[in-house]
Amino acid sequence: MHKRHRILAGAVLGVAVLVFVALWAGNDFQPLRSTEPPFQLRYDMQYQQNLRAQQPSSAFADRKSMRDHVPGTLPRDGEVFTDTSWEQTEARLRDPLPPATPALLARGRNRFNSFCAPCHSANGQDTTEVVRKGMQKPPNLAAAKAKGYSDAHLFYIISRGQNIMPGYADKLVPADRWAVIRHVRELQKQPLRYPDPALAKTDTSKRAPATAQAGK
Ligand code: HEC
Repeated sequence: MHKRHRILAGAVLGVAVLVFVALWAGNDFQPLRSTEPPFQLRYDMQYQQNLRAQQPSSAFADRKSMRDHVPGTLPRDGEVFTDTSWEQTEARLRDPLPPATPALLARGRNRFNSFCAPCHSANGQDTTEVVRKGMQKPPNLAAAKAKGYSDAHLFYIISRGQNIMPGYADKLVPADRWAVIRHVRELQKQPLRYPDPALAKTDTSKRAPATAQAGK
């Protein structure tokens, strides 16, 4: 066989294999000659009857596809949180976690980024997409007010929720809530990116009226 013929034969074979594989792939790699239903390795993944987050569903009376937790249930290792004022929490709880280790801070950051950042942003200060879509802008977590809360007070806010912010007692076990607080304290070490509303107020009250200054 001439060298040229060999190259030609190889090319024809290669193209044939490519066409075959392409056609077979288009047929989901199903067995080629069978009257049986096709054997599918991941049938449930290929044909899912699932609901996307936020999508309404006619399967439930309230049409919510994201189901609320069943009342009276807790996450594994969870506890019931019954305090109704931060003073109660202050009187009975202290941060039980050991001194901050990298693993502990990483856990806090991980939980914060999953559960808090959607509203508060990853640095606790920026405006997030949900706020741009119309939700109330949460307070800056690095501002003087949030810095001034004790750990127990933060634990109370996170556990119980505050106004439109939901509580996290049913979503984060206590140790994770304390870890989140450690992370919030780390965020509070960052410089303030926006004027602090509390400080701004003090400044205005202290500033002398413009006319009085001009008179001097
Ligand atoms: C659904 C959005 C949302 C999520 C998620 C959320 N928050 Fe909030 N958070 C808010 C809003 C809104 C406020 C202001 C509530 C008010 O008006 O009293 C707030 C208030 C706070 C405050 C009080 C701040 C202050 O200056 O008084 C703290 C602390 C706080 N959140 C921490 C957290 C932490 C930690 C998480 C995660 C475990 C979290 N939040 C999750 C929306 C949210």
